Amino acid sequence: MLCSLLFASLLTTSSVLGAVTPRQDASGSEECVVESANDLAVDDSAAILDAFKRCSSNSTIRFNPTNYTVYTPISLTELQNVKVLFYGNWLLPQNVTQVQTAINAAQNPKSTYATPWIYISGSDVEIEGASEQEFGGFYGFGEQWWHTGNRVLRPQLATFNVTNGLLRNLKVIKPIAWGWNLPGQNIRVENHFVDAAPNNATRDDSGSFPFNTLSFISGTRDGFNLSGKNITVDGYYGHNGDDCVSVINGAQDIVAKNGFCGFSSHGLSIGSLGRDGAEHTVKNVLFKNWTMDGAVYGARFKSWTGGRGKAENITWEDITLVNVSTGIFITQNYYDQDKGPRPENTNKSSTAIQTMTFKNFHGSLGNNWTDGTCITQPCWNYVDGLDEPKAVILDLYPGTGRALRLLLAIDTDVRHSSANGISLQDIDIRPSENSSATANVLCDPSALEDGADKVLGFKCQDGQFEQTDVSVSGNGAVQSGNHISLFGGLALGGWVLVSALR
Ligand SMILES: *[C@@H]1O[C@H](CO)[C@@H](O)[C@H](O)[C@H]1NC(C)=O
Ligand SMILES: *[C@@H]1O[C@H](CO)[C@@H](O)[C@H](O)[C@H]1NC(C)=O
Ligand SMILES: *[C@@H]1O[C@H](CO)[C@@H](O)[C@H](O)[C@H]1NC(C)=O
Ligand SMILES: *[C@@H]1O[C@H](CO)[C@@H](O)[C@H](O)[C@H]1NC(C)=O
Ligand SMILES: *[C@@H]1O[C@H](CO)[C@@H](O)[C@H](O)[C@H]1NC(C)=O
Ligand SMILES: *[C@@H]1O[C@H](CO)[C@@H](O)[C@H](O)[C@H]1NC(C)=O
Ligand SMILES: *[C@@H]1O[C@H](CO)[C@@H](O)[C@H](O)[C@H]1NC(C)=O
Ligand SMILES: *[C@@H]1O[C@H](CO)[C@@H](O)[C@H](O)[C@H]1NC(C)=O
Ligand SMILES: *[C@@H]1O[C@H](CO)[C@@H](O)[C@H](O)[C@H]1NC(C)=O
Ligand SMILES: *[C@@H]1O[C@H](CO)[C@@H](O)[C@H](O)[C@H]1NC(C)=O
Ligand SMILES: *[C@@H]1O[C@H](CO)[C@@H](O)[C@H](O)[C@H]1NC(C)=O
Ligand SMILES: *[C@@H]1O[C@H](CO)[C@@H](O)[C@H](O)[C@H]1NC(C)=O
Repeated sequence: MLCSLLFASLLTTSSVLGAVTPRQDASGSEECVVESANDLAVDDSAAILDAFKRCSSNSTIRFNPTNYTVYTPISLTELQNVKVLFYGNWLLPQNVTQVQTAINAAQNPKSTYATPWIYISGSDVEIEGASEQEFGGFYGFGEQWWHTGNRVLRPQLATFNVTNGLLRNLKVIKPIAWGWNLPGQNIRVENHFVDAAPNNATRDDSGSFPFNTLSFISGTRDGFNLSGKNITVDGYYGHNGDDCVSVINGAQDIVAKNGFCGFSSHGLSIGSLGRDGAEHTVKNVLFKNWTMDGAVYGARFKSWTGGRGKAENITWEDITLVNVSTGIFITQNYYDQDKGPRPENTNKSSTAIQTMTFKNFHGSLGNNWTDGTCITQPCWNYVDGLDEPKAVILDLYPGTGRALRLLLAIDTDVRHSSANGISLQDIDIRPSENSSATANVLCDPSALEDGADKVLGFKCQDGQFEQTDVSVSGNGAVQSGNHISLFGGLALGGWVLVSALR
């Protein structure tokens, strides 16, 4: 009864604002249909908010196959058991100043990099996009921002801070900057699509570069416990600038599989971790079955000079490289290109690496090692000795080959700077398409833990990739340099010790 009354009263306003049509289905659960004003001069945000208020629990919210304007940042909170049939498109303002003014005033909880235009929270929330390409989209009209290199007050597209969530068949079209942020838990993302490539510029143009149009961030700022946990991304197709998928601090139990990253992807990334000496952790991440086409990096780990904490159990598997600049890149020396030369590592630390596996990579490199994000000289991604695309670069914090010292002194600096159990297996990366040669690597053996070469899987040198044997235990798992507990909790580190004890 209440519903039909609302229905009646809303009908009268529909010609002005767009409207919500709530009705009950047979099971008694509500369905709200959001009507679009179908007028680019009219903001549909109020009608959308209204629908999410009316149908905030045990309900379905339906968008028609048409365009809706979302000219005001919106916050859709406390949703409970809501299914959104997202069969329309949402359009952000095309006016840059309008976006900046609105996002500056928005109260939406900030994500790591920016304030999201759309903030969604609650539990058991599904957003199901249209299966056809024309609908289920979020239009950011970002190209005008990229063309002028405008990085002032850029919003993140959306934060999905939900427990038990599903995002299916969503499309992100020309986002202004960062795409979906996923700090929630028990989330599945299926068949996600991102178009963040400029129509009239190449990967190398700094003039029209889609800065920071990365796709996902799993994890959150420091300090939240229940964040970025148990997230699966299955099915992804995207062109963007910056990381394709980025997994950051706090993320745990992440699987991202079956995807394609094109244009100028900075890779399937962990990090950056440990900025300004922060203690960051990322645990249990699997990237599987991805094609990286034209990417600056295929697989990438980045932690800041001076950081602390640990990245543990991270795997990249079944990765195809097409025309990429660096296949596999690990740095414990990340720093800000805008703030001068690489700083001294005064804290003698970087977020530690423990058990990191790269398995079954094949394909070829391209002809450049950077892209339009390169606005400094040398480029932000320069490392000593980089003169051509490389199959593998290990830019580890030098002086970490000190596992034995752990036996004598539990020195936090040493532990925080260690890289332990990095392993490459079944790697076949050619310098170019149709080449039968093996591409080169950059690796400083003095930066490896003692015994790390036992599992590394290739010869740590500056030169050609040369595969080496990896010690594998009975169950097929790689023996890594896990710290083990002995003699009442004394931590021992390093592969040498582990093997000596077997
Ligand atoms: C939603 O459904 C659940 C389970 O049937 C019920 O416990 C809850 O009270 C409902 N919520 C509202 C607001 O009706
Ligand atoms: C919706 O807006 C997009 C972006 O402006 C446009 O390309 C598309 O044709 C519009 N679709 C409809 C049904 O109006
Ligand atoms: C864009 O928005 C600003 C501020 O809201 C306004 O002053 C300006 O006229 C708008 N520009 C266009 C082209 O509509
Ligand atoms: C996500 O929601 C939780 C509360 O459920 C809150 O503590 C946290 O700040 C939110 N995270 C973000 C990034 O909005
Ligand atoms: C992980 O999330 C999925 C939904 O994507 C859910 O089905 C599963 O039960 C969750 N696992 C745990 C351990 O919570
Ligand atoms: C692409 O087109 C826009 C708009 O016309 C222009 O501002 C920009 O400079 C162009 N970019 C390149 C690389 O030509
Ligand atoms: C957060 O995690 C820490 C360490 O695991 C734990 O001590 C603390 O109780 C947790 N806090 C919440 C709110 O779960
Ligand atoms: C790998 O991912 C692609 C999509 O990028 C998919 O078409 C293919 O079926 C996947 N392969 C396997 C073995 O799952
Ligand atoms: C490592 O991470 C993967 C991916 O989340 C997970 O499936 C696996 O169980 C983890 N391994 C351990 C030993 O925790
Ligand atoms: C060194 O660590 C401290 C805290 O442990 C931190 O405040 C400081 O910013 C760090 N310095 C650098 C250069 O990272
Ligand atoms: C490889 O990428 C470069 C940009 O780095 C591009 O100019 C070139 O056309 C690409 N080659 C192929 C074969 O796609
Ligand atoms: C490589 O990238 C740089 C920086 O974007 C650019 O200046 C240079 O022309 C590119 N070289 C080739 C061969 O594409």
